[in-house]
Amino acid sequence: MDEERKTVYLLLFTFLILLAGFPVFAETQGENGIDYMALVNKLNPLPDGWEDALKTVTITNSVGDEVEAEVRAFSAYEQLRDDLEKNDDIYLELDSARRSIAAQQEIMDRFIEKYGADYAAKTVAQPGYSEHHTGLALDLYFRVRDDAGGFTDVYYNEDMEKDEYKGIWEKIHEKLADYGFILRYLEGEEHITGYRYEPWHIRYLDNTDIAGEIMSRPGLTLEEYLAGREAPEPAVDLSGSELYTEEELKDAMLAAKCMFASWAGCELHSIRYAGDEANNEENLNWLNSLEEGAEYEQAAELLMNFHTDRDVGGAWEPDQEYIDYQWWLARRKDSGWEIVSTGY
Ligand code: DAL
Ligand code: ZN
Repeated sequence: MDEERKTVYLLLFTFLILLAGFPVFAETQGENGIDYMALVNKLNPLPDGWEDALKTVTITNSVGDEVEAEVRAFSAYEQLRDDLEKNDDIYLELDSARRSIAAQQEIMDRFIEKYGADYAAKTVAQPGYSEHHTGLALDLYFRVRDDAGGFTDVYYNEDMEKDEYKGIWEKIHEKLADYGFILRYLEGEEHITGYRYEPWHIRYLDNTDIAGEIMSRPGLTLEEYLAGREAPEPAVDLSGSELYTEEELKDAMLAAKCMFASWAGCELHSIRYAGDEANNEENLNWLNSLEEGAEYEQAAELLMNFHTDRDVGGAWEPDQEYIDYQWWLARRKDSGWEIVSTGY
C-alpha cells in the first residue's frame, strides 16, 4: 500500500471509530442529564422533567427492602461503603434513596398519624419538595457486630441517634466528601435547611471539590453555598424559665426554625424565650380558641429578630429588621409543641 492510500484508510478508520463511539457518548450524556447541584428544599420543588433524565439502579438492602438510587450516586456510595468496611470496620446499608411523590405522601401520612403534624413538618418533606425525589439523597443505616459473631442492624432513627453511635457517624461523615457527598441537614442550621439534624441523610453532588469545600466549612449548608453567601449564626437564648427545661425550649425553637426556613427572603438573627408569664390562663384560652378541638395545657412564647431582603414577597416590608416577632406554641403536657400563631 502506498503512503497516500495508507493515510486515507487511517483517516477513514478514525472517522468510523468516532462515528460508532458518538451515539454511546451522546446516550451517556442523556442518561445523566440531570443537574447534580440542584437545590430541592421547602422552597424549591423537584425541577420539571427530572424523572425523564434520571437513570437509577435498584438494590435490596439487609432488611429486604428495595432501594432505588441514581446511578452515579449509587456507584459513589458503593465506594464509600467499601472504604468504611475495609478501613474502619463500619458496615453501611441503604435505607431509602429515590422516592416517588406517592411514596413521600405515604411517609408524610404515617408520620402525621403517629407523631402529629408539627413533628412531621420538621422531619418529613412535603411530596414534591423532598430531595429524595432526585435519587441523589441517600438515607444510611449500618450494621454492627454482635456477640454471637453476626451482625445487628442499627436501623431505626431513635437507635441511630443514640450517643454510643456518635463515633460511627463521625467516621462516616469524615469520608463523605471524598466520594462527592455532603451531609445535608446540619445541627443548628434548621432555620435554613427546614429540617432537624439527620446524621443519616447524605446528598450526592458528583463533585468531590465542591463537596470537600462544603464539608470543610462547619455549619455551611447547600443553600448557602449555592447562594454564595453564608448567613450569620442566629443568637439563641434559652434562659429564663423555671417552667420548661432547656431541652423543652430547644424543641419549641426547633419547630419554629423549621417553619421559618419556608419564609422566602427572611434571614434569622436571633431567637429567645419570652418568659414564663406568657403561660397564663388568658393566653391558653386564646390559643385554644384558635384551633378547633384544641385542649392545650401549656403555652410558650418565643421572640424572633429577622431581616427581610429587598425582593421579599407577600406582606413583608422589604429590607426591614423585624424585632421581637412573636411565635406562640402550645401543647398538652404529654405531647409535643404545636405552632399555633405567629405575628405581632
Ligand atoms: N427527611 C427528609 C427531609 C425528606 O423527607 O425528604
Ligand atoms: Zn433522607
